[in-house]
Amino acid sequence: MNRCRTGLAVSLVCLITVLALPAGRAMALDNGLARTPPMGWNSWNQVKCYDVSEQVVKDAADAIVDSGLREAGYEYVVVDDCWQGGRGADGRLFSDPERFPSGIAALADYVHARGLKFGIYSVPGSLTCANTWDNYPVRGIGSLGYEQVDADAFAAWGVDYLKYDWCQAERDGIERQAAFAEMRDALAATGRPIVYSISEYGETQPWQWGPDIANLWRTTSDIAPNWSAVSSIIERQAELAPHAGPGGWNDPDMLQIGNGSLTPAENRSHFAMWAMLASPLMLGTDLTALDAETREIVANRSVIAIDQDPLGRQAERIRREAGYDVWRKELTGGRYAVALLNTGGASADLRTTFTELGVTGRYRVTDAWTGQVQGQAGGRIGTSVASHDTALYVLTPVGR
Ligand code: GLA
Repeated sequence: MNRCRTGLAVSLVCLITVLALPAGRAMALDNGLARTPPMGWNSWNQVKCYDVSEQVVKDAADAIVDSGLREAGYEYVVVDDCWQGGRGADGRLFSDPERFPSGIAALADYVHARGLKFGIYSVPGSLTCANTWDNYPVRGIGSLGYEQVDADAFAAWGVDYLKYDWCQAERDGIERQAAFAEMRDALAATGRPIVYSISEYGETQPWQWGPDIANLWRTTSDIAPNWSAVSSIIERQAELAPHAGPGGWNDPDMLQIGNGSLTPAENRSHFAMWAMLASPLMLGTDLTALDAETREIVANRSVIAIDQDPLGRQAERIRREAGYDVWRKELTGGRYAVALLNTGGASADLRTTFTELGVTGRYRVTDAWTGQVQGQAGGRIGTSVASHDTALYVLTPVGR
């Protein structure tokens, strides 16, 4: 999979790649995919286990198209856990006959017909997470011992994205890096381009070994639809910037925007910070019932462009104070994105300076939410930011 890893001869391309890697970055999985963080929708945060169905997935695909989110970049429609109905006598997985009566291949066709890509879920062990945590009764659906059978089935059905979720598979006596690598190789052997998303909740620092195995790796335990969960995940990403880049991304979990107790300010911060962190942007709310304010957040082209910047840098935290954070993300063209995140309980004037940001020269400062050009007297930028909200700017060099 990784051309630079095999063979004695180190090609010039590989040498240049290695020399160009940011410090701390291992060589990335070379499947040519996820050159920018994947964007799309996943069923889990919306419907969890028992309510997932082909109708829910079709509705999400239709809503992505109808609401203009496809044009904004949302691409992968992913069915999470609980689609499985069992394994046939031939060892092949089949879908739940009640909730997915048409089968997965037909569902993938439906998604493809709308100009989108299709994803699915499996696990390296014998039990899926829903088997363990949600009493999902269907057994024998993990990929352990069926890695190539399952990869071949996924490829035959037209799967473009696999989420492969650890789910305590150490209980099966397997080792996680080897198990994740086995599915990487099984997917490669199918010859179909399939984005490979792995999940072991950051338990064994997957950012250290993930880049060689997968296109994205979860960095934390499951997100929940409240500010305490979202903010504690943000807090844990600050050290991980060196490990992200084109083809291999830290994954602080799927978006909860539009769900639970998150306020509009918190939804904005959730989206702004996932963009700053070059995170996958996987929506997890009911897109058929998206209100205008939430849609405006997740469809904001400037914020999405920060996430999707081809340089592929993850933001670094420049300052952490009681009540606020300053983050800086390097972008292409000598530009920077800057986030001022109000972590406190009241509105506050949040400020930073070009000096603090470590940028020199002249820049035009644009508010990424509104597109308005900001004042920046003496290299100072900032504004009043509501509790749990985020001011987000793009700095573009001028006069050079
Ligand atoms: C784990 C994962 C979730 C989801 C569920 C499915 O909890 O972290 O994202 O995939 O399993 O059971």
